[in-house]
Formats: sequence, structure tokens, C-alpha cells
Amino acid sequence: MASVTVVGTGYVGLVTGVCLARSGHTVTCVDIDPRKVEMLRSGTSPIYEPGIEELLADGMAAGRLRFETPEGGWRGLIGDVTFVAVGTPMAANGSADLTAVRAVVEALAREADRPFVLVMKSTVPPGTGQALKQRFLSQAAAPIAYVSNPEFLREGHAVHDWFHTDRIVLGSDDTAALQTMRELYADIDAPIVTTDVTSAETIKYASNAFLSTKISFINEMANLCDCIGADIDAVAEGLGLDSRIGSQFLKAGIGYGGSCFPKDTRALDFISTMNGYQFTLLKSVIEVNNRQRLLPVVHLTRAMPDMHERAIAVLGLSFKPDTDDVRESPALDIIPLLLEEGADVRAYDPVAARVALPAGSRRVESVWEALRGASAAVVATDWREFVELDWRRVREQMADPAIVFDGRNCLDRTAVEDAGLVYMAVGRPGAHREG
Ligand code: UDX
Repeated sequence: MASVTVVGTGYVGLVTGVCLARSGHTVTCVDIDPRKVEMLRSGTSPIYEPGIEELLADGMAAGRLRFETPEGGWRGLIGDVTFVAVGTPMAANGSADLTAVRAVVEALAREADRPFVLVMKSTVPPGTGQALKQRFLSQAAAPIAYVSNPEFLREGHAVHDWFHTDRIVLGSDDTAALQTMRELYADIDAPIVTTDVTSAETIKYASNAFLSTKISFINEMANLCDCIGADIDAVAEGLGLDSRIGSQFLKAGIGYGGSCFPKDTRALDFISTMNGYQFTLLKSVIEVNNRQRLLPVVHLTRAMPDMHERAIAVLGLSFKPDTDDVRESPALDIIPLLLEEGADVRAYDPVAARVALPAGSRRVESVWEALRGASAAVVATDWREFVELDWRRVREQMADPAIVFDGRNCLDRTAVEDAGLVYMAVGRPGAHREG
């Protein structure tokens, strides 16, 4: 078994480390944050991801998983296969911020004391690998093979997606390194796409851009359904049964959030423009998504032109259920807009409790505290807790006009309306009865 190092213990790095340990590899996870390393050594995961703490405990108990910081230098930390899984956040101009990636690759190249395979697991724009090889690896003290190995993990399902991936993508011009990677992933039953570095990087962006396109497409269809009285659920069902289209990622709502789709679509748009191509369709996907999250505010202000002193409950802060991640979550854009309308906003999320809320809004500890006396409620995340609410009790708690805006089309509209509530959604006919 190859010795493995994973640099970065965030949503991607930690999953990579614990899953490779589960597959039998000896893994060293490295993070510059000593507090994170201490947390992990104690068996506590810094991220909320189903199944991760069990794998963490199993890996450490089996002696296949350890956590270190690089403060003592990288010697002794570099594995036969060393993954780079540090963050590539979005810069102000929409490009990917590669500061952390460059810093790690530079350090690894500088302190390399033996040949190893450097695997880029972080999402980096097409062309990054070639540039890193040229700038850092070509000067390294030992031969370093470069492999692009993008991840396709969904938050909340990351451990499952690791072991049940639809494909493994490997980009490299080093045949020995590619063979090493095939052996590393020998226990994963998935087709392996082998190509050059830049094409592998492009596959990652193309995947996220296409999934984002499906979402913005179904959201525009839902907006049209609202105009023509069609039912988006039926449209999505009929559409998705076409095997060429597929039913996944056809759920209409207030748009995609998260740390990937918004960042990757903007980065691909940036890279396209910088390389002389106007990616028109992608620009529209981004524009549609930016405005989709405004729908609850548009419809609630129509129903209640004067929101001053009205309490509004925003249910769900994470960008989707089963995660504590609030990055680019629609709720964080909806809340300030409701505050601007003078509303008294109470926000509740079952898990995402650490997020800083916009000034003027209040986080409450239960869905009932959020709903008590509220004139309207926005379901911004399809947490099961909201889907299974006792709508008669909700009606008792709320004040007139008692509107429920179902931002994820996840509620049983009949149950909500039978309880005497005003139901609004995205593309569900007759749902936008103004209160
Ligand atoms: C995504 C990709 O799925 C994954 O392959 C990639 O590696 C990282 O980005 P993630 O961002 O974790 O994963 O979540 P995902 O489940 O894809 O949902 C992304 C966003 O799209 C969420 O805000 C979700 O609410 C929204 N979404 C998803 C829709 O609005 N409609 C859908 O039908 C599906």
C-alpha cells in the first residue's frame, strides 16, 4: 500500500483522508490550523458530514490515520502520494483564489526529499496544473509527478459519493503516476477517465457548470409555469423520464448555493473571458440563479406591501439539508432584503448554528420560536424537520396573513392549505395567491 498524505482537512481533504484510510492506506492528514489538528486527533470532525466521525475513529484506532501540522517542516510528512485538498475560494473578480494551493505546492516542491506523486484534488481552473508544474515542480529537489484528480463529492453525501462515484478522473502525462493512482483506487468500482491535466481540470468545471445549468433551466421553466398555470412538478417528471435528460437536478426552487456551483460557474466564466471566449449560456445560468433567490421577497412584499413590524420566519440557513455549510446560501441574501423592508426577521436552522447572521435579524433556537407571531415563513432549505411540520400547529402559531413560501417546493401544499395557511412556491399552479 502506498503511503498517503492529504494536505487540507476541509470538506474535501478530510473525506479523502478518512476514506483512503478506510480502504486500507496509511494516511497522514496535514493542516496548518493546530486547533483543527487537535480536534481531529480527539476524534471530533470540524465539519458536519454524515458518517465521517465513525471513519475518523476507525482510521485512528487502526493506526492508519494521523493528523499533523507542517510547523516542523514537511520532511517526514510527504507521502508516496500526496493530495493537495486546500480551499480555492472565489476572489472578488470571480476567479479562483489559488493562494493556498500555490503555497502548498511550493513548499512540497522545495522540501521534497524523494520522488512522489502530487495529486491535485482541489478544484483549480483549467491550465492551473500546467502552470504549477512549470513554476514549481520543474525546480523541485526531487522528481514530482503531477496528477489532476478532481472530486465530485456532494456535501451531506460525501462519504457515500467517494465509494460510489460515477467515474474517477485522472489527468497526467506520467504513466507511472497514473498506474499508482489506479492501484490507489483499486477498491473503487467506477470507470476511470484518463486524460491530460488540463482536460481533467475542465471535466470538473464542465460537470458543475452543466448541473448548474440544469438547475437554472428548471427554475426558468418553473417561473414560466407560474405565468402559464402549468405545474413544474409534472413538467419535471415528464422531462426527467427522457433517458437523455435524467430526473436529477430538476428540482425547482430559489436556486443553488453552496461552496461549489456559485464559485465554479463564476470561475469558469472568468477563465473563458480571460481566454477570449464569451460563454453566453453560462452567464445566463449565473444571472438566473442570482435572481431566483429573490422570489420570496418579491412575492411577500406583493402580499404585504408594508412589512414594518411584521415578523417573518426564515427557516433554513444551510445551502441544503444535512450540512452546516451556509456558503452562498439563498437565506443569507433573503434576510437582508426582508430587513430592508422593515421586517422583524427570525432565522432558524437545525444544524447551522455558528453562522453570523445579518445585523438586525435574530437567530432562534426552535422552529416554533421562529413561527410564533410570524406573518410569513420562508422555507429556504428543505430540512426534513420543516417538511414534516404539524401545519395546524403552525397556523395556530402564526399571525395573518400566515403565508408559507416554500422555496424548495418540498412541502405538501394541500396539507399546508388545509391548515388555513397561504401557500406560495416556485412554479406550482395557483400557489401564488396573493394573501
Ligand atoms: C455539488 C455537486 O453535486 C458535486 O458533484 C460537486 O463535487 C460539488 O458541488 P454540493 O454543492 O455539495 O455538490 O450540493 P448539491 O447537492 O449538488 O446541491 C447544490 C445546490 O443545488 C444546493 O443549493 C441545492 O439546493 C441546489 N439544487 C440541487 C437545486 O436547487 N435543485 C436540484 O435539483 C438539485
